Amino acid sequence: MKTKVVLILACFLLLASGLSLAREASPERGNELFESPALGGGTTGRSCSSCHPGGSGLGRALFDKKVFTIMGQEKDSLEGVINVCIEKALGGTAIDPKGQDMADLVAYIKTLVLSGKKSKKKH
Ligand code: HEC
Repeated sequence: MKTKVVLILACFLLLASGLSLAREASPERGNELFESPALGGGTTGRSCSSCHPGGSGLGRALFDKKVFTIMGQEKDSLEGVINVCIEKALGGTAIDPKGQDMADLVAYIKTLVLSGKKSKKKH
């Protein structure tokens, strides 16, 4: 009986710690990444914002598309497209498509294209 209680407690603690690790995607942090030439270890000095200021070229349709053709490559996810831009345009290395940076970036792009809100910096 006692072991049962201890086991239940242990499970509860594991669950609670797991939950606190997962963070909501942050559009604010995504905005910083979008403006950063260092994203993915970029080497060209360009940020996403250099070519997509205020979300230019990134339409609402982005979130309905299933297949993307970009710079001669076919990609089946938005994350895949973003990584092509990181590699080809920022001169960096693809980031984890399921990682926090990608989640934040996508969250920012979503607010950008859905609200028509302009990014803070002007180019
Ligand atoms: C050197 C300029 C350049 C930079 C920097 C750049 N992109 Fe792009 N991006 C492009 C071009 C060119 C396309 C392709 C447009 C086309 O084929 O219609 C594109 C396409 C995209 C698309 C797909 C649009 C669509 O409707 O299919 C997304 C999403 C995107 N870029 C996101 C980003 C993100 C995020 C960054 C920063 C990591 C970034 N881009 C940096 C030039 C750039």
